[in-house]
Amino acid sequence: MTAADVKKVGVVGLGTMGAGIAQVCVQAGFETVGREVSDELCERARERIAHYLGRGVEKGRLTAEERDAALARLTMTVDPAGLAGCDVVIEAIVEDLDPKLALFHALEAVSHAGTVLATNTSALSVTAIASACKHPERVVGMHFFNPAPVLPLVEVVRTELASDEAVETAYGLAERLGKDPIRCNDTPGFVVNRILIPLLNDCVRVLDEAGVSPEDLDKAMTRGVNWPIGPCALIDLIGVDIHVHASEALHDALGEPRMAAPERLVRMRDEGRLGRKSGRGFFEYG
Ligand SMILES: NC(=O)c1ccc[n+]([C@@H]2O[C@H](COP(=O)([O-])OP(=O)(O)OC[C@H]3O[C@@H](n4cnc5c(N)ncnc54)[C@H](O)[C@@H]3O)[C@@H](O)[C@H]2O)c1
Repeated sequence: MTAADVKKVGVVGLGTMGAGIAQVCVQAGFETVGREVSDELCERARERIAHYLGRGVEKGRLTAEERDAALARLTMTVDPAGLAGCDVVIEAIVEDLDPKLALFHALEAVSHAGTVLATNTSALSVTAIASACKHPERVVGMHFFNPAPVLPLVEVVRTELASDEAVETAYGLAERLGKDPIRCNDTPGFVVNRILIPLLNDCVRVLDEAGVSPEDLDKAMTRGVNWPIGPCALIDLIGVDIHVHASEALHDALGEPRMAAPERLVRMRDEGRLGRKSGRGFFEYG
């Protein structure tokens, strides 16, 4: 199996990431099977994907015909057997090892020998998932960034157990999806989160240490260092809960104090000040 052979892609878990990844797949011309746990969630995901494709039409990024053709490539299933025949399956379910392992066992049972099984995990070990599989050589990480239809990067994560063929198929598929992938080893946080999480946590600690407001901290980094977005605005965009969870995972794995979530962020998470998605984080959103 090479990336050029990939015709049909499965996406399991159609929440924030999976719905975006499925949208990217259908827009790139792939027959795509989405799997959720209930018919209702399948329907909700389809509506969400249709909504975002519709917004693309309004903004002139695609035509109404292209939207309809993309949606026609999307089928839904609640049954893992519905993923049989997929050449690559991308898993984007809840960030817990046990459900992911159960899913990968089910995927191995229904997929053909050449199918590449990819996880979109941010913080779990891809090796832990692969080593629980009968064929660990075909398990890789494909770490998309949120929002998946917008951000070009995909980290293609290779474990020591992965075959070169599986890694190159995932890399080539990411390119065919219009993304700009990189290859990296299976280390905690991979590349971006390993760097970004402690850095953002440092920024938040500076808020209190330097007695600076979120507005001025963001001004400091956008005007002084030319960052395209300030650290507080970026955490609001990522979601405070997601960032705290990722910090905890990285801290558990590597133990550096900078990786632990600052008290201020934990408080914001507990108060439901999650950033853009809750209408309030460091800043207010209308
Ligand atoms: N949200 C982010 O910013 C982000 C970024 C990169 C990677 N990730 C990773 O992507 C994965 C998904 O994250 P998310 O934020 O989209 O989560 P989410 O909670 O929005 O979506 C998860 C979805 O998976 C479904 N699901 C759960 N178990 C399932 C199963 N066995 N079969 C099919 N569907 C199932 C749930 O119903 C839900 O719709 C996680 O591993 C996360 O670490 C998240």
